[in-house]
Amino acid sequence: MDEQSLKAALPFVPALQFFESTGSTNDIAMSWAAQGAHDFSLVVANHQSAGRGRLQRRWITTAGSALAFSLVLRPTSIEAEHLSFFTALGALALSDVLKEQYGLVSMIKWPNDVLLNHRKTAGILVEAAWQGDVVQSVILGIGVNVALESVPPEEEVLYPATCVESALGKEVNRMEFLAALLERIKFLRPEMRSPRFLEAWQRHLAFQGEAVQVTESDATILTGILSGLNEDGSLRLQTEAGTIYSIQVGDIRLRPVKTHS
Ligand code: BTN
Repeated sequence: MDEQSLKAALPFVPALQFFESTGSTNDIAMSWAAQGAHDFSLVVANHQSAGRGRLQRRWITTAGSALAFSLVLRPTSIEAEHLSFFTALGALALSDVLKEQYGLVSMIKWPNDVLLNHRKTAGILVEAAWQGDVVQSVILGIGVNVALESVPPEEEVLYPATCVESALGKEVNRMEFLAALLERIKFLRPEMRSPRFLEAWQRHLAFQGEAVQVTESDATILTGILSGLNEDGSLRLQTEAGTIYSIQVGDIRLRPVKTHS
């Protein structure tokens, strides 16, 4: 992977920066956005030394074995009303590509993880830059474990991990994968607020009808049945006592009560 071949493979991307190694593509994209990068400008890295996940977690990107990229998006005023849908946009686009290009069925562990065989294979980190109360840019950062070397050791992860090649049983061309994923993001973006999009998200939702535990940022633990998504993309959880909670994207941690093997 290099800048020249990326540019040739991604003619629909207006501008891109490629790094053999960098700290975090989200950080680069954020500063680029502040300097005026156009909508759909792309930052790709072969290796990240300070990759970040949600909740200030570390995201490991081993050289040559993963996809790590960040898109600068300039949200329309309608898109800006529900920023959490950008996370779903990344997750759903990835699920579609896994199915259409590789025949793999994936699930979305709300809000931002993509699972293959109940194991995490990708994570999405959406960050926004504001001026007053107006969103200037959204950075859609996606990390995908493609080859086996990209899967962190079991003791280093909070959730069991896997990679696309393990699920597929054969090699994947990262460049073709990236091109398909970006095209899918571009295609799905105008549908982001449509009922069809919400239905597709709902169909991919992991642990639906199962008992889950949600830990909120203040350490409150809610246990209940994950019953689906609300129209605004929040998660519906029904406790044993029948109370229905709507959980907004934020500092939460979701775990199935029963582990899958
Ligand atoms: C998570 O699982 O919590 C989200 C992980 C997001 C990782 C991607 S890799 C590309 C981009 N750059 C980062 O530093 N993070 C995102």
